[in-house]
Amino acid sequence: MEKPHKVLLVGNAVVDLVAAVDFYPPEDAECRADSLRLSCGGNCANTLTVLSQYPLAGYFAGTLATDDFSKVIKSHLFEHNIRLQYVHYQPNSKTPVSIVWNAADSGTRTIVHYRDLPEYSFQSFESIKTNEFAWIHFEGRNIDQIKLMLNHLTATDFQGSISLEVEKSREGIENIFNKVNYINFSKHYVLENSFNQATDFMQSLNIKNNISFTVTWGDQGVYWSHNGKTGFHKAKNNLNIVDSIGAGDTFNAGLIANLLLGESFENSVSLANQLAAKKIQQHGFDNLVVNV
Ligand code: FRU
Repeated sequence: MEKPHKVLLVGNAVVDLVAAVDFYPPEDAECRADSLRLSCGGNCANTLTVLSQYPLAGYFAGTLATDDFSKVIKSHLFEHNIRLQYVHYQPNSKTPVSIVWNAADSGTRTIVHYRDLPEYSFQSFESIKTNEFAWIHFEGRNIDQIKLMLNHLTATDFQGSISLEVEKSREGIENIFNKVNYINFSKHYVLENSFNQATDFMQSLNIKNNISFTVTWGDQGVYWSHNGKTGFHKAKNNLNIVDSIGAGDTFNAGLIANLLLGESFENSVSLANQLAAKKIQQHGFDNLVVNV
C-alpha cells in the first residue's frame, strides 16, 4: 500500500471546557448547564482530529505544558493517531484553557480563553525534516516566528503545499500572505478589517494571482478564489446547530484533505463546506468523515 501523505500543522492545542446552556445567560445570573464536556480543542488540534479521519498522517508542531490539563490533550492526540514527536514541552507553563458556553437557542459559542504558554519557536521548527511533508498548515498567530519558518521553507526549496489560516487580525499577518499557496480567511477577520461584504474584501486583496483562498461566511456559505476564478458555495438552510466550536477548523481539514486526495479546488471547497455543516450539527469532531 502507498504510504499516506504526511501533513504538518503548526499552532495550538488547548483544553475546552464546554457547557451546553439553553440560552446565553445574563450577567451575574446563576444557571444550569444541560451538559459539560472537557475535551481537547485549539484550532490545530481540532483540524488534526478531523484530518485523522482521512487516509493521511497528521503531525502536530506546537507547544504543550506538562500540567494535569496537558494530559487531556496528549491522550486525545495519541488516541487519534496524531504524531507528537515535534511537540516542544514547556514544563514551567500552563495548558491554555477555553471556557465555552454553547447556547442552544442562538447557536452561538462564547469563549473565555486563558493562556500562559509560550508559542512554538522557529528553533523547534528548524529541526523538522519538512521535506518529508506533502502539506504544512499554519495557524495565523505568532507571526514573527511563522515568518522565519516560511522563509526557511523557501530557502530549503519545500516542494509541498503551504496553507495559512487567517482567523483574527494579528500585527504583520498581511506580510506573510504571499509566502503561502492557500489562505483561509474567516468572516471575523473580514469584518475586523471593516468590510461588510466578502466580495469587497476579496477585491481589495493585494496578493499574488497564484494564491488560492477561501472566505468562510458563517451560515451563508463560503466564497473562494482559484486561478483567477471566483465563486460561492451556499450553505444548507435551517441546520440544527448544536455545537459550532471549530466549524472553521473542520472546514480547513476538509479543504486540505480533499486537495491532497486529488479533488479539484472547487470540489474541495464544496466538500469542506458540507463537512463543516455536518460538524455544527453534532457535538465534537468524531465520526465526521465517512466513506473516504
Ligand atoms: C475553536 C477553538 C476552540 C478553542 C478556541 C481558542 O476554533 O480552537 O477549540 O477553545 O478556538 O483556541
